[in-house]
Parts: sequence; C-alpha cells; structure tokens
Amino acid sequence: MEKFNNILILTGAGISAESGLATFRAANGLWNNHKVEDVATIEAFQRNPQYVHEFYNDLKKELQKAKPNPAHLAITRLQNEYKDANINIVTQNVDTLHEKAGNHNVWHVHGQINQAVCLNCGHIIETFADVDTETICPNCQVQGMMKPNIVFFGENLLYMDKVDNLLRDCDLFLSIGTSGVVFPAAAFVQTAKYHGAKTFEFNLEMTSNNYYFDRHIFGPAGTTLPAFVDEMINSIKTAD
Ligand code: APR
Repeated sequence: MEKFNNILILTGAGISAESGLATFRAANGLWNNHKVEDVATIEAFQRNPQYVHEFYNDLKKELQKAKPNPAHLAITRLQNEYKDANINIVTQNVDTLHEKAGNHNVWHVHGQINQAVCLNCGHIIETFADVDTETICPNCQVQGMMKPNIVFFGENLLYMDKVDNLLRDCDLFLSIGTSGVVFPAAAFVQTAKYHGAKTFEFNLEMTSNNYYFDRHIFGPAGTTLPAFVDEMINSIKTAD
C-alpha cells in the first residue's frame, strides 16, 4: 500500500452505531421517531423553539453517556502511529465520541450537541446542561435567543473553507458509516476523487454514491477499521 500524506476521514452516524447510538435512516433511526421538519429545520425552531430544545436536550443526555468504540479508537491509533501524515476528521456527527476517543483535528460540519449559539450575538457556549428559551447568553445577556449549535436542513455547513482545502489536498479519503444521501457532505468524495485522492468506503452495504469509491470495505466499522489501520501502519513499518 502506498504511503499517504494527507488523509481526510469523513464519518457519519454509522461509526457511532457500535457505541449504541441510533443512526438516522435505519429502521429504528432518529428520523423514524421524529420528523425532520419538526426538529431539524430553522422553521421548526421559529415555530416551536421549546419543542426543538427538548429534542436536543434529550439527545444530549443520551450522547453524553455513549462511549467511543474500536472504530473511533482506531482513528486515534492512526493519528498517533501513521507517521508524517496530516490526518483530519470531518464528521457529520454531533456526538463527541471522536474527542472522547482522543481523535484530534475533528471538524463538526453539522455542529455539536454540547454547543449552543446565540442568534443575537453569535457567541457559542459549550455545555451538556439543558438549553431552552429561558437560557441567557453569557456574552450579550439576551434571554431566549440560544439555539442548539446543530446545522439545520437548509443552513450552511460549518468549517467549509477548511473542508474545501482538505478535500483539495488529500491523497486518501476514507468515508466511514455514512449513507451518502445528505448534501453537500455526500459530494465530498467526488471532490476528493477529482483532486486525485484514493477513495475507500467503510459501510455495512453499498451506498448511493458508491461509484466514486475505489474500494468498498464491508462490515461493522468497529471491526473493519481497526484491521485497515493495522494494514496502514504495517505498510509503513515494512517500507522503513
Ligand atoms: N459500521 C459501518 N457502517 C454502519 C454501521 C456500522 N456498525 N452501522 C450503520 N452503518 C451505516 C449504514 O449502513 C448507513 O449507510 O451508516 C450509515 C448511516 O446512515 P444515516 O443514518 O443516513 O446517517 P448519516 O449518513 O450520518 O446521515 C447524514 O443526515 O439527517 C442528517 O444531519 C444528519 O448528519 C446526518 C446526515
């Protein structure tokens, strides 16, 4: 296996599935129990902010309890042992399992469950406590303008300048546990491939943008990713 220097890892809900967290589109998925238009659009938040706050406050309690699984820990090993490589994680997940596993260079393009943003002044707070329409912004002291720092459908993704640079520079693009149906994240693989990266997909099944992947590694990421990381690390050891 060739030596890679700039690795971009895109993760989705599937990497957190073996930590016991529901994905979005599986049979028992989050979007089967709540309608997107009721909890994940800016219109829903304007219509009924308290209901949206309660959804994310409940989700926050569940995500806070979750522990990283071998897939998250494999990424830490890769970042620590795959020498002389720039390894970034662009995650669609709002849980903090990458951070709990010790991953660094993590970019939450859909936001983070433990953050809230003030719609009056833009200040971001980090908290696992409940946030609601009574919450006062510690920066501008305005009450009731805090929103979960989750990117709602129809809103811009976060860190897109950084992501664009990473996609242009990467020579290896790993997609782990995402169905590849929500844009623009679903198009990241096309951009990486266009710029010459090798593209590998880790999933239980073939996904809708499988055409752009050079390799499909089927199975639970908690098993396939540690094995792949072993292969990557051994390939540089034998090359030395
Ligand atoms: N290992 C690998 N892949 C898995 C595993 C596992 N253990 N379990 C599930 N998967 C795969 C599923 O096959 C599916 O392709 O993970 C993917 C999960 O897909 P979704 O539920 O659609 O989640 P995701 O792709 O992260 O959704 C993207 O949609 O609703 C928005 O903002 C939300 O960030 C989310 C975005």
